[in-house]
Amino acid sequence: MVTRTSLMSRRTAQKFRQTAISAASSFKIKLLLLCCFIFTLTFLATRTPSFLGCGQRSVPALDRTSRKGYTLLINTWKRYDLLKQSISHYTSCPGLDSIHIVWSEPDPPSDSLVKYLNQVVKSNAKNGRYIELTFDINKEDSLNNRFKEIKNPITDAVFSIDDDIIFHCSSVEFAFSVWQSAPDSMVGFVPRIHLINQSKENGNSYTYGGWWPVWWTGTYSMILSKASFFHTKYLRMYTNEMPVSLLEYVKRNRNCEDIAMAFMVANATNAPPIWAKGKINEIGSTGISSLGGHSNKRTECVNRFVSEFGRMPLVPTNVKAVDSRGTWFW
Ligand SMILES: *[C@@H]1O[C@H](CO)[C@@H](O)[C@H](O)[C@H]1NC(C)=O
Ligand SMILES: *[C@@H]1O[C@H](CO)[C@@H](O)[C@H](O)[C@H]1NC(C)=O
Repeated sequence: MVTRTSLMSRRTAQKFRQTAISAASSFKIKLLLLCCFIFTLTFLATRTPSFLGCGQRSVPALDRTSRKGYTLLINTWKRYDLLKQSISHYTSCPGLDSIHIVWSEPDPPSDSLVKYLNQVVKSNAKNGRYIELTFDINKEDSLNNRFKEIKNPITDAVFSIDDDIIFHCSSVEFAFSVWQSAPDSMVGFVPRIHLINQSKENGNSYTYGGWWPVWWTGTYSMILSKASFFHTKYLRMYTNEMPVSLLEYVKRNRNCEDIAMAFMVANATNAPPIWAKGKINEIGSTGISSLGGHSNKRTECVNRFVSEFGRMPLVPTNVKAVDSRGTWFW
């Protein structure tokens, strides 16, 4: 009896182990199959952009008859190679309708530069498309020139960009489509944050946070105008409605015009800006310097603007707009 029981239990145990093994191996096989499936899907998706409608490269052309595009507002200072490179690139983006070059140098642009850029614009504006090219020539050299009002703008959207950063057309068109969903907001690629400095007791003081605190906390409250979309009405407001003392401060300190714009838009909307995911194509020699340094001056600007506005208008947020074609999971 004893032996039989033990034999039986040994058999049962063996059988159980076998089942367990086969269950385990079938699980492994299923896992392997799933991996193969995912791998194949990923492979196909990366090879053929139209597969399942994924892939970043298949940017649908904008319907030019019913929708207006945007105006490129580019700030430049004696870096003609960068300017030529930027204009050549952005004229190849389908939504571009107009280019305004903010020119604050003592000498007007040379004939050869004007001729070169006109040639570039003409050769890139295919299929009967017309791109307006304007030099906005300023007598004085002030950072406020960057937001001078555009008289009779042909688009509602402005894409403000520094001459030393180039974003992929797919990213630019994506940010533009985000802006179309929220035309009162600033939409762009370079987020920054204001941090509350608790060491002071009489009233809040603020600290300007660069890229690291944004990365660490996933929170931002400003989008810098070095790469962002906003409505042309904000240029009119900046030029005509901002307190003169604030414009003077920006001019004297040669800094912070972008923070002033972020404050103005936040004060007008009581809402945060929108960070859009973007792919940088190329960056000029001085572009990296914006990642660190000069943050003491920026902190001064933030605190100065808070007293000018009588409150802190910036609204923090954690929202980031991404192209759903590039994401796999909901
Ligand atoms: C906070 O404010 C104090 C006094 O104004 C200053 O010394 C300190 O550096 C500030 N802290 C930060 C993180 O900016
Ligand atoms: C901030 O917004 C208020 C309300 O819209 C407005 O009255 C005020 O002039 C704005 N401040 C600045 C400095 O633009």
